[in-house]
Amino acid sequence: MSTTTAGRGLTGRVAVVTGATSGIGLEVARGLARRGATTVVVGRGADRAAATAGEIARSTEGAVVDSIAVGDLSLMSDVRALAKELLDRYPRLHILVNNAGAYYHRREVTVEGVERTFALNVLAPFLLTSLLVPRMVESAPATVVNVSSAAHRTYRVDFDDLQGTRRYAGYRAYGRSKLELLLLTREFAHRLKGTGVVVNAVHPGFIRSGFGQNNRGAPALGIRILSALFARSLRSGADTPIWVASNPALPGTTGAYFVNRRLASGSRASSDLRAAARLYEVCQTLTGAGELPSVERAPNGSRTGRPVPS
Ligand SMILES: NC(=O)c1ccc[n+]([C@@H]2O[C@H](COP(=O)([O-])OP(=O)(O)OC[C@H]3O[C@@H](n4cnc5c(N)ncnc54)[C@H](OP(=O)(O)O)[C@@H]3O)[C@@H](O)[C@H]2O)c1
Repeated sequence: MSTTTAGRGLTGRVAVVTGATSGIGLEVARGLARRGATTVVVGRGADRAAATAGEIARSTEGAVVDSIAVGDLSLMSDVRALAKELLDRYPRLHILVNNAGAYYHRREVTVEGVERTFALNVLAPFLLTSLLVPRMVESAPATVVNVSSAAHRTYRVDFDDLQGTRRYAGYRAYGRSKLELLLLTREFAHRLKGTGVVVNAVHPGFIRSGFGQNNRGAPALGIRILSALFARSLRSGADTPIWVASNPALPGTTGAYFVNRRLASGSRASSDLRAAARLYEVCQTLTGAGELPSVERAPNGSRTGRPVPS
């Protein structure tokens, strides 16, 4: 752990950011650390994660920055190992930013047999959130921020082919994954109402980062050129996720989608709550995630707002 002194609005809060060794996630981690949160940099490679935590702590007066290495978040075994380490280390968890994500131009399948876009962008945040939520309920008020994308807009969920087995195109798999993450945001929010844990999604903007550079050749070059021409800075990309994660005016807002610090509606497909509930159940089956802590229901079916241990 790297420590200096001082802190601000998030002092006493513990914030976890996935994909925090580079890109938007690094700036989100820096922003949360600046606001005083004990910030956990989750990244690939122990040395890189520790070096990033050290760099944020040195550049941010008062920051308490820790690091946890993950192998590959597209593997549910690694997501479970990450959750276990977080739960072992932190008796309280207040902020989770599910930021790690990627675009795969060609279809890849993980050693666990899952298409990689779906595994990393959908199942990983689903499982990590499911595993951490009980601790977050105990630590409430707490907040989950899912980094979705405006790329979700033109797609619908294909429940018959969630992993692009029949037809795969990278842009479609990516756009769908971000729609699915937004739908899961709505369903988590619904299931957690009254527990003190809110779940929201953001579009960070079109941001100049390492995005797409895991691909080779023309796809990576194309994204680099478009980025150089049109994209905004990493700091700008981190602004809305940090704002949603730390804004004290937002604790009652849940299941929402934010763009440029504003509430946005998302596509029509992203408001299909039946699809959200169905997708949640599919993800539960695929990951083996258990039930969330719920709230007690009054006899008339309304929720009383008291968390019930799972
Ligand atoms: N850039 C944009 O215009 C844009 C727009 C909308 C949404 N987004 C979303 O914003 C989020 C951050 O993306 P970015 O633009 O900052 O891209 P990026 O620079 O490529 O950063 C992605 C982060 O995710 C991590 N990551 C990727 N694959 C991983 C894996 N298998 N296991 C663990 N960590 C993994 C990366 O780790 P390494 O540091 O090890 O590479 C990196 O820290 C993503 O969810 C992306 O979909 C980006």
